[in-house]
Amino acid sequence: MITENIEKAINEQIKREEHSSRIYLAMASWAERNGFPGAAGWLYVQTEEERIHMLKLVHYLNDRGGMAIIPALDAPTSKFQSLVDVFQQVLKHEEYISASINELYAVCIGEKDFTSANYIQWYITEQIEEEKTIRNILDQINLAGPEKGGLFMMDKEFTTMATAKRAALAQSGGANAIA
Ligand code: FEO
Repeated sequence: MITENIEKAINEQIKREEHSSRIYLAMASWAERNGFPGAAGWLYVQTEEERIHMLKLVHYLNDRGGMAIIPALDAPTSKFQSLVDVFQQVLKHEEYISASINELYAVCIGEKDFTSANYIQWYITEQIEEEKTIRNILDQINLAGPEKGGLFMMDKEFTTMATAKRAALAQSGGANAIA
């Protein structure tokens, strides 16, 4: 059985993960309409990943006797200045998510629910990877420079990264892993 405090904290995280999925969906749509099909592909896969992060928590909470609540969500912005702007916002958002996961972990420890803390550990590790990947992407976009040629090459690189990301997601079972 799960405590009320943990149930509430996990439900808040469910909302954040679902919101992340929608934020990246808006970014993917912007990239698709602004000449960055590779970046759009990467962001569409990221959208799926966030949805899986959300679903894992829904199942975990229900399996432990809590009740997962599916929340209403604010509309994400669809206006961006540039590809750098998009990924700066991605990084800022992931740093916020990392902090929220740490808070969730602290709630689990505070309630002496080491089973939940252990489950949340997966998200802590995942956040290290997410932040690292996005910092690398930002470095590469900055190296490519603002010229069209550089950004065109970078977008091709995104296609390769999106293919690898999609394959990793499929290998991990994707949505089936938590169904
Ligand atoms: Fe589920 Fe990107 O944090």
